[in-house]
Amino acid sequence: MQEIIEQAVKALDEGKLVAIPTETVYGLAADADNKEAVMRIYAAKNRPTNHPLIVHVANSEAIKFWAREIPEDVKKLTDAFWPGPLTLILKRSERAKDFVTGDQDSVALRCPSHPLTHALLEAFDRGQGKGLTAPSANTFGKISPTTAEHVREDLGSKVDLIIDGGPCTVGIESTMLDLSQGEPRILREGAVTAQMISKVINKEVFHGKKESSPRVSGSLKSHYAPEHTMELLDELDMIRRAQFLARSFKTFALIAPSKISKRFERLAVKSFGYDNPEELQTNLYSWMHELDKSGADRILVVPPAYDETTAGVLDRLSRAATPKDK
Ligand code: TXA
Ligand code: MG
Repeated sequence: MQEIIEQAVKALDEGKLVAIPTETVYGLAADADNKEAVMRIYAAKNRPTNHPLIVHVANSEAIKFWAREIPEDVKKLTDAFWPGPLTLILKRSERAKDFVTGDQDSVALRCPSHPLTHALLEAFDRGQGKGLTAPSANTFGKISPTTAEHVREDLGSKVDLIIDGGPCTVGIESTMLDLSQGEPRILREGAVTAQMISKVINKEVFHGKKESSPRVSGSLKSHYAPEHTMELLDELDMIRRAQFLARSFKTFALIAPSKISKRFERLAVKSFGYDNPEELQTNLYSWMHELDKSGADRILVVPPAYDETTAGVLDRLSRAATPKDK
């Protein structure tokens, strides 16, 4: 482990790009203080340069280097959820340059819990809060990577080093909580839910953007889109739709609760079953990568019911099901 971390620190110091495993999705990392390196991220991902990046840090001590105002709630939240899948948006300090924040007055900070990346961030910090900008390690608009193999397939030679930390356990991107505008607001749903946050800070947590909220590229309507058309259906419609497609000589693949997916194993080109929403969340992107390659005409999905804990996975599913030109 020590060797790969030393190698990664060296590469990052030289302004190179390193793909890092996190508990949510794989990230494409560069030194957040190095403009040229950060610009290479935008180029590799083909991402518009006005889309801000998250700065990943080793611990909550680093916050003071990157934010100029630290509301009281920050300590409560970092004590409860860091390291982990919660990103905090705060008013930026001078350290957080335009090439990181997309010219906005705020900066997004996250401390990931994956042991390899955590160790890398600790080695990189040097007591100066040095951090890594790391968007998901995928081409802009494509499915986020949850294995090193996904990164290799999508970005390949554009990345100088890929750290293989195994499959991501959370499976969808971190919760983005904006604390830069007064009231706490979730700009992107994730594994840390509004209810969990609300309990810790003892305040109401709002959802979605206000006019003045910072931009979040994951909030473009269609963002996590697979190459194939995806349809979200309830159980009954799923059965009708599958029969219709079979009669029209169209192929389909599916993601559904196991008891449903089992019934379609032979009709579908490929099928994935989940026994609980968490299993779906952990595997969603991995399955979407595979379904994209399955060659099926349609991807049918029976999603879990909406509740606090499924908000994140339902959000990603509905974006994936939105046609790309929306
Ligand atoms: O789980 C995650 O957050 C992963 C892993 C790699 O840490 N990272 C990730 O980064 O999802 P990315 O760049 O794919 O998504 C970050 C989102 C983007 O939609 C970006 O627009 C938004 O966060 N963002 C970054 N800085 C922001 C800021 N200052 N204000 C508002 N939104 C911001
Ligand atoms: Mg992304």
